[in-house]
Amino acid sequence: MSSAQLEQHHLDLQQLQQVFEPPAAIQTRAHVPSIEAYRDMYRLSVSDPNKFWRQIASEFYWHSKPDGAEEAPILDYNFDLSKGGIYVRWFKGWRTNICYNALDRHVLAGRGDRVAFYWEGNDPEDRTSITYAELLQQVCRFANVLKSNGVKKGDRVAIYMPMVLELVVAMLACARIGAVHSIVFGGFSAGSLADRIINAKCHILITCDGNWRGTKLLSLKSIADKAMSICIEEGNPVVTCLVVSHVKRPRFGSDEADGDSHSSKPGIRPAKDCPVEMLAGRDVWWHEAMAKEDISDDCQPEWLDAEDPLFMLYTSGSTGKPKGVLHTVGGYMVYSATTFKFSFDYHLEDIYWCTADIGWITGHSYVVYGPMANCATSVMFEGLPTWPDAGRCWDVVDKYKVTTFYTAPTAIRTLMKSSDAFVERSSRASLRIIASVGEPINPEAWLWYHRVVGRSQCSVVDTFWQTETGGHVITPLPGATPTKPGSACFPFFGVQPVLLNPETGDVIEGPGEGYLVFAGPWPGIMRTVFGDHPRYEQTYFSKFNGYYTTGDGAQRDKDGYLWVTGRIDDMINVSGHLLSTAQIESALVEHPKVAEAAVVGRHHDVKGESAYAFVTLKDGATFDDSLVRQLLVIVRERIGAFAAPDTIQEAPALPKTRSGKIMRRILREIAAKSENYGDVSTLADPGVIETLVALRTV
Ligand code: WT7
Repeated sequence: MSSAQLEQHHLDLQQLQQVFEPPAAIQTRAHVPSIEAYRDMYRLSVSDPNKFWRQIASEFYWHSKPDGAEEAPILDYNFDLSKGGIYVRWFKGWRTNICYNALDRHVLAGRGDRVAFYWEGNDPEDRTSITYAELLQQVCRFANVLKSNGVKKGDRVAIYMPMVLELVVAMLACARIGAVHSIVFGGFSAGSLADRIINAKCHILITCDGNWRGTKLLSLKSIADKAMSICIEEGNPVVTCLVVSHVKRPRFGSDEADGDSHSSKPGIRPAKDCPVEMLAGRDVWWHEAMAKEDISDDCQPEWLDAEDPLFMLYTSGSTGKPKGVLHTVGGYMVYSATTFKFSFDYHLEDIYWCTADIGWITGHSYVVYGPMANCATSVMFEGLPTWPDAGRCWDVVDKYKVTTFYTAPTAIRTLMKSSDAFVERSSRASLRIIASVGEPINPEAWLWYHRVVGRSQCSVVDTFWQTETGGHVITPLPGATPTKPGSACFPFFGVQPVLLNPETGDVIEGPGEGYLVFAGPWPGIMRTVFGDHPRYEQTYFSKFNGYYTTGDGAQRDKDGYLWVTGRIDDMINVSGHLLSTAQIESALVEHPKVAEAAVVGRHHDVKGESAYAFVTLKDGATFDDSLVRQLLVIVRERIGAFAAPDTIQEAPALPKTRSGKIMRRILREIAAKSENYGDVSTLADPGVIETLVALRTV
């Protein structure tokens, strides 16, 4: 299956060899100012990881180290299942606290007055900001609120919140006391939230009344209420639910008088109420808990082992059941901070904006931990790039003089479809680095980003990584790497990418195409799947002994550039969200009329991929619009709106092999309207193709 799928993704690398040198203005001040400097550092990082990472780790605060730590290796691991269980340990026995490193360390160094976040609301009128010192105070108070609710080191805390400053406070407060946060993206349904609360055995949930997304008001608390009812039925009750009042009450932070011409559009915030039901004994308003007199502003950080858990974050699994990816304190801290510093060539005078939602890994590593460990000043944005219009991002760039902008290809393609005038009404003179993440960026989008958004003067940084990798693993460095549109270029320090032949497992040296795997760990790699270590070993290490398997395919060109081509498992990437086709299928077959379902990815100009579902009905059932609507409701309720297929078509039968395996390759071809079905000799009934093509509706 794999080589056929690789072929489908094949890029014509001959046509994509345009090279963009790093802009001179960026190169002059860069941490890594040339490709030779990158190569020297890279060589050391893989030949002597102990020396390399020990040096970097010395820039952080460690409360204590075990005797002999200066001589002992900082890394211990096994990546080879034939030699025993898989484990990765960095800085074992070293004690630290990531919250201390992200806040106290800067405040003690006299940087407490630096702005940590400029918060920009959905409404262009709505803004506030918060300094490092102010955040530290809020975090300590909230850590005490958590403690007063019985939260202890190692307890999991579920968080279901929009992009508000309290979310950052909640994360760092957990990190401060050694509680493990498990953030669930606000777009997930009640069912998905409940699954995650139950799997992580959380008994505390932090949520919010609601939030605005453009003109839509989402009522998060009512979704949380439904999830909490499911949790009771499943025997894992939420005992305490802290609720931020965001929609009704002004949030905290130092409100600024707004004399800015870009945001003087009165009356944009729609006046609407967000009713919230509070269950006595369980639900507590955040502001009331924080205002209590016995809650102190002091909270000593818990000194944690570098290998203690920091957080878990669920990601789609190809079997359909989400995996709780677990990251630990020390390695993740060092890695998220170091990738932030080098991939974005960060300097203290920069203003940085990552548009990702904190509910995804990009938000964890590059809205919160990486930037804060560097004492960065960031923009945090509640709204949508297309509201009130397609110029919003560029207005915000000018408003805060953003130097470094990080977004997803799907956002770039959406904005690219609108007139360039939306971009050009802003100056974007402050921009130096424009970056991308989430899926392969097609060269057209890369070139538009570079030319129109970046006025041909910025470094474009295409960062390849995963929830599992904790931070960037393949990326150009702005002052060092000559870039090629569509290529994530070269490995980050300490990362050893290898391409393997899908059939033989042989290493492909030089130019070629194969499975993208990594030999040996970098500090930010996940340590386990929460509660299911065998699944960790099975998913990532069982395919090829000695390697971490990404699930992606990649090509290497004659100059050694890496081109990630996309997933080679049954996952699809819709607008940068990784979805399991099996999970969508199991939602669809919950409908009483559906006998079987198969979901595949189909190319989409804006989303990258969209989900295309084939459903086989039970005898006597009829396929009509009302059924399609019901199916969409099920997917939205089970997973979330972002997983709803763009197309659902009837399939009286699915193309299967004689042994009964669905041939998804053929379904992908039908969905893509390609006539290139390849070898169909193993099909039990070749007539199926014709029937499905005849029923195709798009
Ligand atoms: C999958 C991971 C890591 C942040 C967001 C997604 C795809 C991600 C790129 C890129 C090509 C990319 C891969 C990967 N992906 N970035 N720059 N070029 N593909 O995290 O949900 O864990 O998804 O996203 O397929 O495996 P995630």
